[in-house]
Amino acid sequence: MSQAPRRTVVVLAAGEGKRMKSATPKVLHSLLGRTLLGHVLVAAGAAEAEQTVVVVGHQAEQVREHLAEVAPAAVPVLQAVQNGTGHAVRIALEAVPEAAGTVVVLNGDVPLLRPETVASLIAAHESAARAATVLAAAVDDPSGLGRIVRDASGGLARIVEERDASAEEREIREINAGIYVFEAAALRAALGKLSTDNEQGEEYLTDVFGLLVEVGSPVGVFVAPDVEETLGANDRAQLAELRALLRDRVNTAWMRSGVSILDPATAWIDVTVTLEPDAVIDQNTQLKGASAVAAGAVIGPDTTLVDTSVGAGATVLRAHAVGAEIGPEAVVGPFSYLRPGTRLGRKSKIGGFVEAKNSELGEGAKVPHLSYVGDATVGAGANVGAGTIVANYDGVRKSRTVVGEAAFVGSDTVLIAPVEVGPGAYVAAGSVIAKDVPAGNLGVTRAQQRNVEGWTARRRPGSKSAAAAEVAERAAAGAGEVSEAE
Ligand code: UD1
Ligand code: CA
Repeated sequence: MSQAPRRTVVVLAAGEGKRMKSATPKVLHSLLGRTLLGHVLVAAGAAEAEQTVVVVGHQAEQVREHLAEVAPAAVPVLQAVQNGTGHAVRIALEAVPEAAGTVVVLNGDVPLLRPETVASLIAAHESAARAATVLAAAVDDPSGLGRIVRDASGGLARIVEERDASAEEREIREINAGIYVFEAAALRAALGKLSTDNEQGEEYLTDVFGLLVEVGSPVGVFVAPDVEETLGANDRAQLAELRALLRDRVNTAWMRSGVSILDPATAWIDVTVTLEPDAVIDQNTQLKGASAVAAGAVIGPDTTLVDTSVGAGATVLRAHAVGAEIGPEAVVGPFSYLRPGTRLGRKSKIGGFVEAKNSELGEGAKVPHLSYVGDATVGAGANVGAGTIVANYDGVRKSRTVVGEAAFVGSDTVLIAPVEVGPGAYVAAGSVIAKDVPAGNLGVTRAQQRNVEGWTARRRPGSKSAAAAEVAERAAAGAGEVSEAE
């Protein structure tokens, strides 16, 4: 039995990314729920490496914190001064003196790279027993990138940076993607020979290839199956282009797996989201974070879900939900706002212009119109009428409200927490409920109604209201005469 090959991954993430013009380091900018660095680390996972070293430098603290979250096993290594990609790899390897076998180096700003491509690149390199292999791509516009210079027989001669290239070399459209595989000992030896004799005065990792060719070590080029994978994100315009490419990739995969996406150009689904077959995603919909949508649920149009789960057959229309659980066959929207801790039971309903926070609705419970429900438990089958406000906050502390099973809260009620409306109890419309309403009771706090006769005629004489009242009074009087005559 052959031993598993020893591999080390090095990710270069120390650069500032000046063209981003950002307080956030470039590798921490994100594409559909994952940072650039996070995407590269996922692709690098295909290497099945013994260890992963991430070179940090610019805003190292922020990058380290992020790494601790997304890849706690990765080892951050500080490159205090960014003296170039070759210098970065040299520092990385000094931190892991035991590293032997294969070293995979990835620029931290190539987020569309697929794990499959990393695996094929490594396989090509290892099966040919090369000292170094570079991932390349033929592009229409190579500007700003390193060029692959081939010899007369088509083999790799060296890699030249655009700034250092001759006019002839600049015509080359085959570029270096910034993803490489090396044999560790050969890489160490070549890194020791790097000079800074170039336009930027930096140690270029790319010079390793020319140095290896000089000593007769075998090097090769692996051409990426899809140019898209090699695109770097250097400014925010490029970042937006990559985001759209990733959106298309994510959406196509979901559609192939049985999800309906009605307008793929306006459905933005984070790579961390999960969807079941026969879920329907309508126009202008964003699904973010740990959101999950079950079979047959319809989301959108115009809906954003963040860390929200939606049960089978539920409908969520023009809604914004954060940290909510929407049960099977529940109905939400239009224009609803679900905040963290909202849990909606099967077949429950949150209707138009309703905001809910940290509240639970039992099976079939309904809050159909214009309400605020905060820190409340609403029992199965209860109905909370239009315009009901749960006053959960007294300015100092938040308290809970309980509405029992099959209770009926009339419209325009204020429930002042802590308070409980018992199972099967009713609350009269317009009430302000500050005391519990026991099971089966009617709670009512309305003042008696008083009608002041003839008020409009006396106080608004000559108005259109007075005229309308007069017509109505005459008609009523006339109707009275007819009935008397009968
Ligand atoms: C690099 C390549 C170029 C290739 C391109 C692909 C070199 C010399 N050039 O150029 O041939 O076409 O990538 O995108 O390698 N970094 C460090 N420490 C440093 C410098 C850079 O960690 O001292 C990191 C950066 O954070 C980045 C990566 O290395 O993630 C690449 O650096 P960048 O400055 O973007 O290199 P390019 O000029 O794009
Ligand atoms: Ca770059």
